[in-house]
Amino acid sequence: MHDSVSEFDLFLDLEPQTDSMEDDVWAGLQDQPRWLPSKYFYDARGSALFDQICDLPEYYPTRTEAGIIRNILPELNARLSNPTIMLEYGSGSSTKTQLLLENLGALTAYVPIDISRGHLLSTGQTLAHRYPSLRILPVCADYGQRIPFDWEAPELDELGKAARMIFFPGSTIGNFTRAVAKDFLKRMRALLDEGGYLLIGVDLVKDATILEAAYNDSAGVTAAFNRNMLDHINARIRTDFQSEAFKHLAVWDASENRIEMRLIASEAMDVSLPQGSISLEKGDYIRTEYSHKYHVDDFGDLARQCGFATEHVWTDANRWFSVQMLRAD
Ligand code: AVJ
Repeated sequence: MHDSVSEFDLFLDLEPQTDSMEDDVWAGLQDQPRWLPSKYFYDARGSALFDQICDLPEYYPTRTEAGIIRNILPELNARLSNPTIMLEYGSGSSTKTQLLLENLGALTAYVPIDISRGHLLSTGQTLAHRYPSLRILPVCADYGQRIPFDWEAPELDELGKAARMIFFPGSTIGNFTRAVAKDFLKRMRALLDEGGYLLIGVDLVKDATILEAAYNDSAGVTAAFNRNMLDHINARIRTDFQSEAFKHLAVWDASENRIEMRLIASEAMDVSLPQGSISLEKGDYIRTEYSHKYHVDDFGDLARQCGFATEHVWTDANRWFSVQMLRAD
């Protein structure tokens, strides 16, 4: 199915380690409070449920960010120098990516970086067919790997001289704790020369009612998405979570400026895992995700500590979400 690597100008496979779900799950459940890594939301069903979340009336981030990007296309066009390479952490399947690829004249090459070889190659092929004049250079790597771009390859020589812009949408940065977000911003900085850009989507602190509604939607899609993590884990390793015996809850933690997603045991239960079993009392919970929200100035401080200067911050009229252009200093 993915045999046409040759249709890319370069395919860089850093052979990222596939995750060790058994160890991750056991380790998280030994901790207090218990937790599971949010990357385990995304099996096929989880990804489909996430797409549904993005269309929910309460879930404002996706459409708000896309609206901001649509509005600022002329300004982005004015700021980018020709030619520019766009790099993205993620496989590039989002409509936001396509908005940029279609409307920013300076973009001549696109570098999606993703841990899933399958997603990377299939999205890359779709984009290659849609934008035949765009150079596509997929990189299979995880977010933590250093990427040694081989811009020296003779056929790609001119790319080495092009300006670079990293696109990191979706407020994915919010899933990291502040310390990890800092490491990640530094890693992105290292992919840029001075003057390069990071275009990043950052969700903003706002009224708790709006935030909690966005993560506790009335149709129950987020609840299904949350519980699906347990079904996904059951399907991959020898665990016997009863996902329907957990209630979904998302709570706003005002002291840490973050939404915390939880799965709460609705009765006492034992869960068996390859390494042993754990007991949950009724009301015990497992944390499945953080989603940090920022104040604009606070994010600016964080960016500065990582070698970026805030060049411009665009928001929607409500100031619910921001798209920020950071310049590598
Ligand atoms: C895709 C990680 C940014 O944190 O808002 C949506 C994931 N979780 N609803 C977010 C999510 C619950 C989303 N991110």
